[in-house]
Amino acid sequence: MTQEPGKPAGDFDYDQPGLRYAAMRQADPRIAEQIRVALGEARTVLNVGAGSGNYEPADRTVVALEPSASQRAQRPAGAAPCVIGTAEALPFDDKSFDAVMASLTIHQWPDLERGIAEQKRVARRRIVILTFDPARIASFWFYGYLPPQANAERKRMPEFSRLAALLGPDTLFETVPVPLDCTDGFN
Ligand SMILES: C[S@@+](CC[C@H](N)C(=O)[O-])C[C@H]1O[C@@H](n2cnc3c(N)ncnc32)[C@H](O)[C@@H]1O
Repeated sequence: MTQEPGKPAGDFDYDQPGLRYAAMRQADPRIAEQIRVALGEARTVLNVGAGSGNYEPADRTVVALEPSASQRAQRPAGAAPCVIGTAEALPFDDKSFDAVMASLTIHQWPDLERGIAEQKRVARRRIVILTFDPARIASFWFYGYLPPQANAERKRMPEFSRLAALLGPDTLFETVPVPLDCTDGFN
């Protein structure tokens, strides 16, 4: 799938006026370390739906891919080079990166099947996805204060059984603790 001109690639418009997304999101170092370890020995990494660059490992060669102009503009100076594109049509050859990562983005993709198939096509070794488990959203303390939002978020997130079926039999699920003093304002 390619992005229609003037429309967001996912289910949220990051190009709407006044949204200062990068100010809300600051990668938490403990979560960043868990992602870095999950990437294993990968030396080259493609970050799909990269946004402003949170969780891109500093010790690897990274290429970012991001459809939103406003998100790309919020990437700091010195961040990895960023290609315009969508998860469903990655503009790269087969097996062109050791690993592909996708942080807090897969729930927005209009065609998850196609997006995961594309990740598998370009990754030589590994795919690392940071996402939310819809089965556990309701039990996260934060949503006790916002039941309607918990319900809305639960519906957006792909079921883990579906992810496992798409990714294949080697899929591992790892819990990512959210520290009390988490620096990342996701949600
Ligand atoms: C919640 S932000 C996360 C950004 C970044 N990965 C992070 O963790 O800070 C979701 C990102 O996914 C991007 N996105 C939405 N739909 C997409 C698609 N179909 N293909 C690739 N990226 C998409 C959005 O533009 C946005 O930058």
